[in-house]
Amino acid sequence: MKILVTGGAGYIGSACTEYLLDKGYAVTVFDSLVTGHRDAVDKRAEFLEGDISNRELIINVLKKGGFDGIMHFAAYSLVGESMTNPGKYFQNNLGAGINLLDGAVEGKVKSFVFSSTCATYGEPTQIPIPENEKQSPISPYGESKLMFEKALKWYSSIFGLKYVALRYFNAAGASKNFGEDHNPETHLVPIVLKVALGKMKSIKIFGDDYPTPDGTCIRDYIHILDLAQAHELALHSPRSGHYNLGTGNGCSVKEIIEASRKITGHAIPAELVGRRPGDPPRLIGCSDLAKKELGWKPRFENAEAVVQSAWDWAKNNPEGYLS
Ligand code: UFG
Repeated sequence: MKILVTGGAGYIGSACTEYLLDKGYAVTVFDSLVTGHRDAVDKRAEFLEGDISNRELIINVLKKGGFDGIMHFAAYSLVGESMTNPGKYFQNNLGAGINLLDGAVEGKVKSFVFSSTCATYGEPTQIPIPENEKQSPISPYGESKLMFEKALKWYSSIFGLKYVALRYFNAAGASKNFGEDHNPETHLVPIVLKVALGKMKSIKIFGDDYPTPDGTCIRDYIHILDLAQAHELALHSPRSGHYNLGTGNGCSVKEIIEASRKITGHAIPAELVGRRPGDPPRLIGCSDLAKKELGWKPRFENAEAVVQSAWDWAKNNPEGYLS
């Protein structure tokens, strides 16, 4: 099967590309390299540098490519930035994504897998969060992903495009060759590991007055290789659908820091600062549906194993990607 991976030079897209290639798929990575890295593109993949906002280009690629499936990762993904620059999020994550959908229809692509997020739920009323929880995003980032989920539904009912939207919880960890390297980095695990590598003095804890046992926010850290497995399964799903991808286990900010101290042997000094706007206290996913309907079997169920794999990659790549 031939798969187009948009955003295949990014954090999750690069690991999924590697996973697909290991399984014998032919993969073309389409990435603008605005946030991705050329060195994060698996050498076995075909690489096309381009932006999905270039309508003519992406439609041509899909019309001529003979792709069986698309995995769509290309997106901006910083909640905080989306609160100050919402247009960037709607324009790229929704508007440019429509070019890809039109290309998928013109290219007669049989299966579309979309990288969605638990940020589409906003502040959930149930923990762990099931897929039927009300989707009420509290940021333009979450809203842009929800809007694209809605567009998918229309393309499915009008053109018969089969799709699966995967709502990830907190993606973390690394494969042997590919890991997390954002610029600027805002995510907890890579920042904690930067402190362990001596690249930062301390980790800032954003608030310890949340209604959680130790007062810090709880998240569900899901390994990127488990996300990759779900993407492959979703490609073959006989019907369209929406699935959460999380472990069902929550881990607080303080617990992540403590686990990282044990794993790295570094003291990892922490500094308590105020809350970061827009952070819900607890986000834990119920992924029973993905297990039942897609046959998903996540391999990493505790955050320590996830941090360990992120650490293995960070130690081998202390400067991140060179390109
Ligand atoms: N945190 C700190 N200090 C830091 C960084 C993070 O205390 O330096 C805390 C945050 O306040 C939060 C937790 O660590 O409580 C995790 O924060 P991340 O930034 O790593 O991830 P988020 O929970 O903010 O992730 C959210 C959504 C994802 C979405 C992602 C996009 O849960 O679905 O934002 O950036 F994809």
